[in-house]
Amino acid sequence: MAQIINGKEVSQSVRDKIRRKCEELVGKTGLRPGLAVILVGEDPASQIYVRNKKKACEEVGFLSREYRLGGETSEEELLELIDSLNADPRIHGILVQLPVPKHIDDKKVIARIDPKKDVDAFSFENVGRIMTGEFDFVPCTPAGIMELLAAYDIDPAGKHAVVIGRSNIVGKPMAMLLLHKNATVTICHSRTQNLKEICRQADILVAAVGKARFVTEDMVKEGAVVIDVGMNRDEKGLCGDVDFDAVEKKASFITPVPGGVGPMTITLLLQNTLTSARKAANIK
Ligand code: GUN
Repeated sequence: MAQIINGKEVSQSVRDKIRRKCEELVGKTGLRPGLAVILVGEDPASQIYVRNKKKACEEVGFLSREYRLGGETSEEELLELIDSLNADPRIHGILVQLPVPKHIDDKKVIARIDPKKDVDAFSFENVGRIMTGEFDFVPCTPAGIMELLAAYDIDPAGKHAVVIGRSNIVGKPMAMLLLHKNATVTICHSRTQNLKEICRQADILVAAVGKARFVTEDMVKEGAVVIDVGMNRDEKGLCGDVDFDAVEKKASFITPVPGGVGPMTITLLLQNTLTSARKAANIK
């Protein structure tokens, strides 16, 4: 029976540390970390994410600004808002919640955010830094997973880590962070042949597929560490990419959904905003 990785607990202890560091920064320099979150349109899931980000900011003592723009907002208007936030010394992190409506080019939007304030780490500059290992901003979801592994003394060095999913937000940066920690990494995706056999070789299996209960018990090696990035809805409600009830019996560690990876993503966003504010205040 697997040990459950408690993302809520780890997240709370990291957020406590961030709150203390925020107070310290304000006390020393008068500078309060500030995050601006922009939401364009009325996507219900995005509205929940944005609300949670704002709440988390306030809990650790950050300045939080929320911009809710109508679905008809033009690309130019959004770019102008980003320009004004780039120039605002009270704002250290700018996040445009994705997806944006179809008439807006998300690549253009990401490229417009000052890389020093790109707390999602989505810009070419920050992605490049993640490749080389010289990064200040961590990619939030993958970095949250690395924190979870560390909290449970799971060292990826020398292990075979298999990542299912090759998105720019999760799969690719996840593979890089595991590689930086000396894992042997395989990235699987929709065109992978022999997916089951490859997954069965994994010491650490990360599922970022976006399909409910995609990872079944027969895809998991006895004693593997199983990390579930999925956030799906089915007839039973919220569920991950892993068939939790069956896989739990085989894995050594497993993250639940909810309460596993999810809470860590926002925590690492706070971490990046703090890092940015400390840099702005010339504190290492
Ligand atoms: N939409 C889903 N995940 C994310 C994320 O990590 N950052 C942003 N900006 N939008 C998202």
